[in-house]
Amino acid sequence: MAARGGFSNRLGFIAAAAGSAVGLGNIWKFPYEVGENGGAAFLVIYLACAFLICLPIMLAETAIGRNTRLNPYGAFKKLGGRKWGMVGLMGVLSGVMILSFYNVVAGWAFGYFLQIGFGGMLSEGLNYDAHFGSFVSDIWDNLFYSIGFMVLTALIVAGGVQKGIERWTKILMPLLVIMIVGLICYGLTLEGASDGLAFYLVPDFNEINANTFYTALAQAFFSLSLGMGALITYGSYVGKNDSIVGAAALITIADISIAFLAGLMIFPLVFSQPGIETNAGPGLVFVALPGIFESMGSVGPFIGAIFFLLLCFAALTSTVSLLEVPVAYVTDQFKFHRKKTVYGVATVIFLIGLPTMLSQGASDFFTNFTFYGGKNIDFFTLIENVFSDLSLPLGGFFIAVFAAWKWRGKGFQKELYFGNPQLEGSITEKIILFMVRYISPLVVGTIFVISVLKIFFN
Ligand code: PFF
Repeated sequence: MAARGGFSNRLGFIAAAAGSAVGLGNIWKFPYEVGENGGAAFLVIYLACAFLICLPIMLAETAIGRNTRLNPYGAFKKLGGRKWGMVGLMGVLSGVMILSFYNVVAGWAFGYFLQIGFGGMLSEGLNYDAHFGSFVSDIWDNLFYSIGFMVLTALIVAGGVQKGIERWTKILMPLLVIMIVGLICYGLTLEGASDGLAFYLVPDFNEINANTFYTALAQAFFSLSLGMGALITYGSYVGKNDSIVGAAALITIADISIAFLAGLMIFPLVFSQPGIETNAGPGLVFVALPGIFESMGSVGPFIGAIFFLLLCFAALTSTVSLLEVPVAYVTDQFKFHRKKTVYGVATVIFLIGLPTMLSQGASDFFTNFTFYGGKNIDFFTLIENVFSDLSLPLGGFFIAVFAAWKWRGKGFQKELYFGNPQLEGSITEKIILFMVRYISPLVVGTIFVISVLKIFFN
């Protein structure tokens, strides 16, 4: 067991888990979801989901991991038997599948960083919409960038929990924050910035519908890296003297703060350009922003390169956590050598990502992969719907139910007391238990049913 490694202290865990949480979800997905779902009103619902529903589940995940010192499958099996092990296995599978597409998008960010910073992309007078379309359908470019990103990820994970993951997140996260704050300051000096802020910060509750709740909850799970055992895995490396209650609160606050800052960074930039739509969807970052960077003149390539570099840093601390989940599974369960496992698993996941890479125009088969309720769905969207939007809330539901109802002998509470003895009998403990027992499973269960209906019967 000693060979499993662990974080050096509580801060190491917080940094790594916040690094996992802060990623493309915050900087690429969150702003365009805010843009598509009525601005600040979405933000309010999102905050409620994160604190009331997800934070309790985060505690449950971390507690399960620290108690068992095992990967998600091993942890559930140890505490709940073979059947519950399936929940862990589903988590490992989700991790594999999420990394398979996440790495492709991270590759896009990597490619844009190189092309803007060193390839003169902004000086070519491009139509960025068309450019993005041809970029994502160029399989050779994509192969190059996504192999590069997976190799970086594997190198960090191969370094181990403390010397690889913890050390690199502690370097990359502060750089990320500095770059975001720098770009916010710059964006606020631009004309139109106040319109961007108003759009982002003044809620319009007329825009809210059932779909808003579903989107906000799925986004909260994804953004907090919750529901698939990433935090069981990271939790398994946390020391017994470290309080996980405060740590989970800090991780949630860090994740939300960065998403919030990403909005502050992006909307003033977006509104500084006439004619840019806030509901540009997934292309917001890759289509709208390059045009904006170009209009900045000579500083444009510099600002643009910094933006995409920070996106890469954010993605990298998340891809390492995604890779660590199946790596921990294989090394724990089959006692394989860690480094070899890292490179083997990374290769397999990369290969699984190939259809996703081909699904953005390169291959007609994967681009028009299937058809639901009058809509053509590409392979990427299918995998994202199944293994992120559906699987994470479902996993979160089981994690909450397990910790609150199934874990024998008050196992969950006792695990929370380690490093936090004053919790016993306190009001905070009562609130946590109430949330994990009732609120999280009920709300997540309801929204899960809605999302199944939505995806299959749209
Ligand atoms: N939280 C990451 C993001 O917001 O980009 C995505 C993610 C990482 C999801 C790790 C799940 C996970 F286990």
